[in-house]
Amino acid sequence: MQSLRERLCERASLLGVDLTDREIDNALRDLGRWLPKGLSSSDVLKTEDGSYTLMSEEYGEPYHSVTAGALTEALEKFFKPSLLVEVAAKAERVTLLDIGFGLGYNAAVAVHELRKINKRLNIEILALDKRLPDAIPSLPEPYTKTHSSLLGMLPAGEREGVSLKLLEGDFRETLRKVVGFRADAVFHDPFSPYRNPEAWSLELLSLIRPLMKEEGAWVSYTSSLPVRRSLIELGFNVGSTPPVGRRRGGTVASLKRAFRLGEEERSKLMDSPYSTPFRDPGLELEPVDILIDYRISVLLRERALSSGGRRGLSRTPS
Ligand SMILES: C[S@@+](CC[C@H](N)C(=O)[O-])C[C@H]1O[C@@H](n2cnc3c(N)ncnc32)[C@H](O)[C@@H]1O
Repeated sequence: MQSLRERLCERASLLGVDLTDREIDNALRDLGRWLPKGLSSSDVLKTEDGSYTLMSEEYGEPYHSVTAGALTEALEKFFKPSLLVEVAAKAERVTLLDIGFGLGYNAAVAVHELRKINKRLNIEILALDKRLPDAIPSLPEPYTKTHSSLLGMLPAGEREGVSLKLLEGDFRETLRKVVGFRADAVFHDPFSPYRNPEAWSLELLSLIRPLMKEEGAWVSYTSSLPVRRSLIELGFNVGSTPPVGRRRGGTVASLKRAFRLGEEERSKLMDSPYSTPFRDPGLELEPVDILIDYRISVLLRERALSSGGRRGLSRTPS
């Protein structure tokens, strides 16, 4: 089997980049940190707030933050920053694009909270996922009933003004097939960017952009530099969400709403060589190759910076 070193050198020569031994060692060190370390158990995990989540064998990560709490994450990192409360107060219908339906926690919390504001609100959820786990732990009260009702509708159904449709398959395939959907909010919740890079590339995010209303909010738990950089290059206004269970907050983005990053985060985005998008031009690269190409573009930025090149945030894809 091809080693990571051989794969890195092959991608570099495909991209026309000559690497020094030191650059290869540095890149391999980063890649070793980013790639999954083999399989973990698929046990049910109890999280900080008492709610349960699962461990993904494929990605070697839990479905939710164990330190923040699964339910807390759904409420604080997705629902509240999405500003759906504001939409529900004015509209009769709310549309949600749920990228990474997983255990259905984010969707269930949103439905329950929105119904508290307006009992007659129509809620349309378009959910995407490649594979759902066989056994999904229930959300605690007061969300249990809504959660089980949503799971009962899968793969598509409608109950009491809530419609849910799950598109099964790789996001890169299913997102291309969506037409005519305009989201008030997008919950972008794949596994973390370095473990699940195909779900965070500039090209993948560009498929989401036309599925959003101008005032719509894209929300995620990550503060990842390549992701924020991509959103800015795609013309989004980008801001951060309050930290929950860790030092850094997540990200919120909109085409029209005036979100803005704080000075410190903005200068990090301008200065760090790691702030360059994940690229997946044909939306078909192996995740490991997306990471290798990303690491090569990081080192090209490092070289440019060390020879006095300029940084800067452009909105034009590089
Ligand atoms: C962190 S979990 C989502 C948790 C979920 N939002 C919830 O509230 O329970 C990430 C989900 O993304 C899905 N996923 C990851 N990469 C994908 C891809 N390329 N295409 C489709 N689904 C993907 C996984 O199957 C997993 O269910």
